[in-house]
Amino acid sequence: MPAIPQIDPTSGAAPEVQPSIPLASTNVTPAFDPSKVTVLFILGGPGAGKGTQSIHLVQDYGFKHLSAGDLLREEQDREGSEYGQMIKDYIKDGKIVPMEVTVTLLKNAMQRELDSGKKSRFLIDGFPRKMDQAVFFEQSVCPSKCTIFLDCPEEVMLKRLLNRGKTSGRSDDNEESIKKRFRTFVDTSMPVVDQFEKEDKVIKVLATGSENDVYERLVENLAKRDIHPVK
Ligand code: C5P
Ligand code: MG
Repeated sequence: MPAIPQIDPTSGAAPEVQPSIPLASTNVTPAFDPSKVTVLFILGGPGAGKGTQSIHLVQDYGFKHLSAGDLLREEQDREGSEYGQMIKDYIKDGKIVPMEVTVTLLKNAMQRELDSGKKSRFLIDGFPRKMDQAVFFEQSVCPSKCTIFLDCPEEVMLKRLLNRGKTSGRSDDNEESIKKRFRTFVDTSMPVVDQFEKEDKVIKVLATGSENDVYERLVENLAKRDIHPVK
């Protein structure tokens, strides 16, 4: 895997990036051309159903699904990764991993998919979770087409996560970590959704009820944005 930019592995301190949207004042060119590569983000609190709905979207809309959390967990477990311990600590604590790591993992995964000649439509799940990630990704990787936001009350998400925790084996599916993840979502990730909303780039869907209920709403709302199943 191509190198990840240098981050102090002990403190986890990433180079300072000043988040500033709108993005007009940059002359960095994104790695991928948004007229050839389509990026949709899917966001929502922990337990909102991002992974679950992504499975349907991949089947019906032909996206390549990339989950930021899954890529981080993979990197955490990769033998010899210098970021493994840092990622582990951040995830357990429900904190956002320094964005250079996550953006690089995503960019590399996109590059691999494009090199294989398979898909050029990406559904990026659980990202961007923080304003600096949004800015850095759109500047250096690819501007997004829009963001699906799964809107779900905390009590519903808590129930789902505690249930998932019985079998997921995830270090953060316990009540203490879940509470921290909820706070991180409200304080750090919602501002990203709010900013994209101001740019009219958010497809907001109520994420309560059954998996199928949510998916039906999602399909309806995507159609309004002229995004349709491929089969
Ligand atoms: O999306 P998921 O619930 O799998 O994410 C698990 C954890 O991975 C988050 O709570 C956070 O610690 C980390 N993460 C991150 N930045 C992202 C996505 C996930 O730091 N963009
Ligand atoms: Mg997930």
